Amino acid sequence: MSRNIESVAVLGCGTMGSGIAAASAAVGCRVLMLDVTAEAAERGLQAVDEPDRHLVETGAFDDLAKIADYDWICEAIVEDLAVKRELFARVEPLRKDGSVISSNTSGIPLRDIAAGMPPRFQADVAITHFFNPVRVMKLFELVPGQHTTADVIEAFANFGESRLGKGVVHAKDTVNFIGNRIGCFFMLSGLHLAKPFLEAGMTQETINALLGKPVGLPPTGLYGLIDLIGLDVMDLVGKNLAVNLPAGDAGRAYTSFPASEQRMLERGQLGRKSGALGGFGRVQKLADGSKHAETFDLVAEQWRDVRDPDLGDVAGQVLSDVGAIMFDDSEHGRLVWQIFGGTLRYAADLVPEIADDVVNIDNAIRWGFNWVNGPFEMLDAIGPARVIAKIRAEGGELPAMLQVLADSGKSTFYSE
Ligand SMILES: NC(=O)c1ccc[n+]([C@@H]2O[C@H](COP(=O)([O-])OP(=O)(O)OC[C@H]3O[C@@H](n4cnc5c(N)ncnc54)[C@H](O)[C@@H]3O)[C@@H](O)[C@H]2O)c1
Repeated sequence: MSRNIESVAVLGCGTMGSGIAAASAAVGCRVLMLDVTAEAAERGLQAVDEPDRHLVETGAFDDLAKIADYDWICEAIVEDLAVKRELFARVEPLRKDGSVISSNTSGIPLRDIAAGMPPRFQADVAITHFFNPVRVMKLFELVPGQHTTADVIEAFANFGESRLGKGVVHAKDTVNFIGNRIGCFFMLSGLHLAKPFLEAGMTQETINALLGKPVGLPPTGLYGLIDLIGLDVMDLVGKNLAVNLPAGDAGRAYTSFPASEQRMLERGQLGRKSGALGGFGRVQKLADGSKHAETFDLVAEQWRDVRDPDLGDVAGQVLSDVGAIMFDDSEHGRLVWQIFGGTLRYAADLVPEIADDVVNIDNAIRWGFNWVNGPFEMLDAIGPARVIAKIRAEGGELPAMLQVLADSGKSTFYSE
């Protein structure tokens, strides 16, 4: 069967649902926006550009029967397996034959969502994982279930790529899929691995600066990125990883926060969303109207003025010298090797577990986390042989794909 998506019923009109509705209406699709209450759906409608709103109908889940008139039923409600399954059980008998159905879950396995559902549901369902903000982020992860048919995946891939202009990444039904599996490892392992450097006197500003532009990451670095996402969200991600990461996965060592970050979470010091309570940083508005930026010092556990980063020996080095930064015989070099290099090594161990090839992993990280290069492109730029030599010198085990490369006799993952 060939499927065509011309209309979308979005269930749940919060941050993500309203973004998906807005993106779909912007390309001319008819859209139905439903939520727990009609008022919630109406609030979501504000995300839709004014000229597109004539394409959108809003309502409450009491109006669920209206989904019968839509090609794609897209679920974007609260991240709770039981609540999602309950809604899908109501949706299934109401949707028309030939329609496709998806969840925007950040990390609940599709096999858990689909377990025990009717065969038609299992054939027509996928995970369509957009990134926030939906209209800005290019990454669109597409995950089939065990019984999803090829025409369903093709319909989602075509719609994502040709209509919405997204970068489609084919992922597997593994915890946190591709982008968040690697991106969250960077953040959670980074918090732990940074501790000895902080205790030895390196500042958070320096760590952020090292893990930003010099290695091709966005300027938010480590702490700025977590401030953006929120410690509460990262805590939930860690708990999901603790349950679902396979035995022996390197990420199992980093599924909970270090002690000072745990105390921040308990105080409600979650990041940008916490206003004056802040996160790792905050900007205070003074009585005279000026702004004052502060850093929460993780060693002293108190606020202090922002300091300039001290890039030491690696100051002035640029992205093309990333290998030089990583192998620099200094505290700066060791930090980059452990945190950024550790994330590259982690990614290199996840093929074929989370994706069948390195291209899907590189695309997911570039499009979902705005890295200049994906992990394998970065390894190629540094020189895999240097990385392999350093891991061996440290007595470490080679990640799967570096072993494959070493065995193949080739020197890079990509050829001209
Ligand atoms: N926010 C992100 O950055 C992000 C990114 C990718 C995926 N996701 C996933 O997208 C989904 C939606 O996340 P969001 O950030 O838009 O959340 P949100 O809190 O902004 O919106 C959640 C929606 O669920 C509805 N809801 C709450 N309780 C409900 C219930 N018991 N039954 C039915 N609906 C209920 C709310 O009314 C709201 O419209 C989640 O699965 C989340 O994990 C979020």
